[in-house]
Amino acid sequence: MRRAIYPGSFDPITNGHIDIIQRAASLFDELTIAVVQNKSKSPLLTLEERTSLVTAATEKIPNIRVIGYEGLLADLAQEQEIYTIIRGLRVLTDFDFEFQMALTNRRLCQKVDTVFLMTSEENSYLSSSAVREIASYNGDISSFVPTVVQKALAQKIKKIGG
Ligand code: COA
Repeated sequence: MRRAIYPGSFDPITNGHIDIIQRAASLFDELTIAVVQNKSKSPLLTLEERTSLVTAATEKIPNIRVIGYEGLLADLAQEQEIYTIIRGLRVLTDFDFEFQMALTNRRLCQKVDTVFLMTSEENSYLSSSAVREIASYNGDISSFVPTVVQKALAQKIKKIGG
C-alpha cells in the first residue's frame, strides 16, 4: 500500500491545497492530511477548527485521512510509519524553504522522502494569508476557498471582531 502525508498549517485550507490533495490522492493509495502547528505562525483558526475544515473540504475524496498533530513532522512520519511527505510548490520563492525543510526532515528521520507537486497555474499566487486578509475586510473569497471555509471564516472574523 502506497501511503503519503500531506502536512500544512491550512489556516485555512484553500482551493490550491485541494488541488494538491486531489492530485496526491490519485498517486497514492492513502493520503493522510496532517494539520500541523507551525510555531513561527500565529494562526487565526485553532488546530481543531482547521482540522474540521480540512475534513469537510475533502469529504468527497475517498482515500483521505485527516489528523491534527502537534509535534515534529519527522516524529509523525515515524509514528505513522509513512515516510513519503507531499508538498506543493507554487513559485520559485517556495523552493528555498521547502528544500531546507525536506533536508531537515530527512536528517531527523533517514527514511523520509519529500515529493513535490507543482501547484496548478490558477492557484500559483494563492495563499492562506491573502485569503485571511481579504476575508477580514469582508472581501469576496468565494473563488479561493470552498463554501464551507468561506462561511467558517466569516463567522470566526465576526466572533473575534476582526
Ligand atoms: N495552494 C495555495 N496555497 C498554498 C499551496 C497551494 N498549493 N501550498 C502552500 N500554500 C501556502 C499556504 O496557503 C500558506 O500560506 P501563508 O503562509 O500565507 O499562510 C503557505 O503556502 C505555507 O503553508 P503550508 O503549506 O500550510 O505550510 P506551512 O509553511 O505553514 O507549514 C509545516 C509547514 C506545517 C509542514 C511545517 O511547519 C512543519 O512541519 N511543522 C511541524 C514542526 C516541524 O517538524 N518542524 C521542522 C520542520 S523542518
